[in-house]
Amino acid sequence: MILNEIKCTYLTESLRTVSLLSLRYSYEECKATADWLLAQAPVRPLLGIVCGSGLGGLAEMLKDPLVIKYSDIPSFPRSTVHGHAGRLVFGTLKGTPCVCMQGRFHLYEGYPIQKTTMPMCVFKLMGVETVILTNAAGGLNPDFTVGDIMVIKDHINIPGFAGNNPLVGANDERFGERFPCMSDAYDRDLQQLAHAVAAELDYSAFMQDGVYSVLGGPSFETVAECKMLRFLGADAVGMSTVHEVIVARHCGMRVVALSLITNQAVMDYDSEKKANHEEVVQTGELRAQQMEKLVSTMVSRNIFPSNTPE
Ligand code: HPA
Repeated sequence: MILNEIKCTYLTESLRTVSLLSLRYSYEECKATADWLLAQAPVRPLLGIVCGSGLGGLAEMLKDPLVIKYSDIPSFPRSTVHGHAGRLVFGTLKGTPCVCMQGRFHLYEGYPIQKTTMPMCVFKLMGVETVILTNAAGGLNPDFTVGDIMVIKDHINIPGFAGNNPLVGANDERFGERFPCMSDAYDRDLQQLAHAVAAELDYSAFMQDGVYSVLGGPSFETVAECKMLRFLGADAVGMSTVHEVIVARHCGMRVVALSLITNQAVMDYDSEKKANHEEVVQTGELRAQQMEKLVSTMVSRNIFPSNTPE
């Protein structure tokens, strides 16, 4: 990280403030991690995949996989969440060289925001051009039902409103510009492809598109918070993805993201329902195969003109 560790130990009490200033990984540090990974990877990945809660099965679809535990990767954070394996898997998916994160990093694990997004910088430096992200989310849109898959068309970065953005700190132009545009964060062609492929697979009945809002978690939202998010235009709420998307776009990778609606956010005080992590993981497992099929079929289409898919 740019801020050296010695300073950090003297400043443990004010780590939070420090992280807002400059706890970004340096280009060199990310490059060292990328080079370390490439030295053992069987492929040079063009595609990066991030698997959400209960959706790690996608990684099992990779051919000739090489699995590396996060704890073995220099400078890499570690996953602490149930339902997240904490492994990086290299291999080919439908002929496309790919790296897959089985488990991601969240703000609520206590990591500074730059640590949660560091893998995106490493993806970029390994040659990744497109990132597919999946997550579990609570449905805010009353037309959504549990088990729907939402193609994310936009996001609301609630922590960003309070200055918690992964790009805060000194900017390294080798990654990207100081003030990156986010109005085109989610690639429109890939969104269309997701819907077209879903139609072919006969999945249209449970496909949606919409706006994803991120909160820090780990507590689920109150009724008033859900109502506010809906009022702001959000269709789903979760605790991930947006920060990775911001960093991926900053360094010029294409992004497509899918939310599995694992529960209905509780919007009224008379409801007996309570959001809970078991339901999130269970719904993930129920729809996992279809989510995997959707992603792998998308990848089998020519999304990388330089690559010949199977
Ligand atoms: N809220 C926040 N994050 C979530 C939810 C939710 O209802 N469901 C899955 N992840």
